[in-house]
Amino acid sequence: MQEYREYGKKLITNDMDKAMDGLLNDIHVDSKFYNEILLHKAALIVHRVNFRKGTLEYDKLSREEQRIRNALLEVLDELTNVDLIAPSFSLLQKIFLEVDPRIAAIIVSNKYPLDWSQRLLYIGDIGSKQWNKMSENPRNINSDNNSLVSNCLIGFLSNLNIDSFISFGPGNGIKDKNLLDNMNTNRLKYYPIDISFDLLIKTWLTMHEAVNIPFGILSCFESRFCTFIKNKLINEAKGVKLISLLGNTFGNLDRREYKLMDNVKDFLKVGDYVLLEVSSKKIDYAIEKDEGAIIGSHSEEMKIFLANGMSKRLGIPTKKILKLYTEFLSIDVKVEDKKSNSNINNTVEIKHMDKKKHNKILSIRRYDHKSLEKWLETFSFIIEKEEFIPFDDKVIGVSCFLLKKY
Ligand SMILES: C[S@@+](CC[C@H](N)C(=O)[O-])C[C@H]1O[C@@H](n2cnc3c(N)ncnc32)[C@H](O)[C@@H]1O
Repeated sequence: MQEYREYGKKLITNDMDKAMDGLLNDIHVDSKFYNEILLHKAALIVHRVNFRKGTLEYDKLSREEQRIRNALLEVLDELTNVDLIAPSFSLLQKIFLEVDPRIAAIIVSNKYPLDWSQRLLYIGDIGSKQWNKMSENPRNINSDNNSLVSNCLIGFLSNLNIDSFISFGPGNGIKDKNLLDNMNTNRLKYYPIDISFDLLIKTWLTMHEAVNIPFGILSCFESRFCTFIKNKLINEAKGVKLISLLGNTFGNLDRREYKLMDNVKDFLKVGDYVLLEVSSKKIDYAIEKDEGAIIGSHSEEMKIFLANGMSKRLGIPTKKILKLYTEFLSIDVKVEDKKSNSNINNTVEIKHMDKKKHNKILSIRRYDHKSLEKWLETFSFIIEKEEFIPFDDKVIGVSCFLLKKY
């Protein structure tokens, strides 16, 4: 196994674009999930024209590319023969990704813009894997709370006829799949957009049998929405559109919320929808009781997730940061004011900062349901549906909103 991995990696790193090298860095083949991702990555390398032009053009491959393609096909064959749970090659060919060259270049350069905080966390093998594990850990959200949220979102969408479901930050795709399983998807097309290559592939694996995915987009919706993303969607995503931001993706944004909201509003047409799910405060909210603001309550996965992000910023190995976790990480709490990153009244912002260089690593914002509702109304949206779901075992809950453009 190791041998094939090395072989595949060598082929790829020797012969392929630098950008591709970067995407293949640090492959750890230690779970079914990552075996599949490795194979998909290899397949995508084979079809690198796909990245470049958005189409498969086998016949236009140069002789050198043909050679690499054939060699990689052998690797893939061997991997399948060593009894990995691997999809067939014909399946692999069906992935279409539009890769934003500017974002891909940042990802592979290892030189990240200073305002990338949470965006750094999901990139790469470790980040995506830890996020995936966290989302499966009942400590973060227990199954009762999970079903309350998911039933609420399903209820919101039950009578809608959506043609284009555009998911901003689908994570592993499991939440989206649950929604789509309960919708009429006959004519629906699904467009996942994520900054994490691994999570995008994972989403594809989760969703492709359930729904038509014309392509996924590897890009950043905070900085590239009006350029790359809009260009890719404008003539493709037809009919009634829905943009979703679930799992407090909205409450973690690096930039202020109104920037994204303004862009979304301008892109959507009358009658289109936005689906939001964010973290919010219960009436008895107290920062001292909020587990998200207590370093000591971080799960092992959360620690690795944040340490990996700090490592990218500080250039110090993740392991070292993990050993001295509390010497590297501090938590700073802000109630909405000029220094916080939110402009929505009564928002609490829990800032995870590195103590060495004072970079922000992650913001978790907790909203006040009513204040957020008022704020959303200031854009050209009607609040079609809204619900606050308090969690019994916590001082927080979740706010869900379905907005309709008028
Ligand atoms: C908190 S997770 C939520 C995942 C999923 N929606 C859920 O509820 O389980 C945030 C997701 O958004 C992606 N993401 C965060 N910021 C992004 C950005 N600026 N552009 C594109 N994707 C981003 C992350 O990679 C991750 O998949």
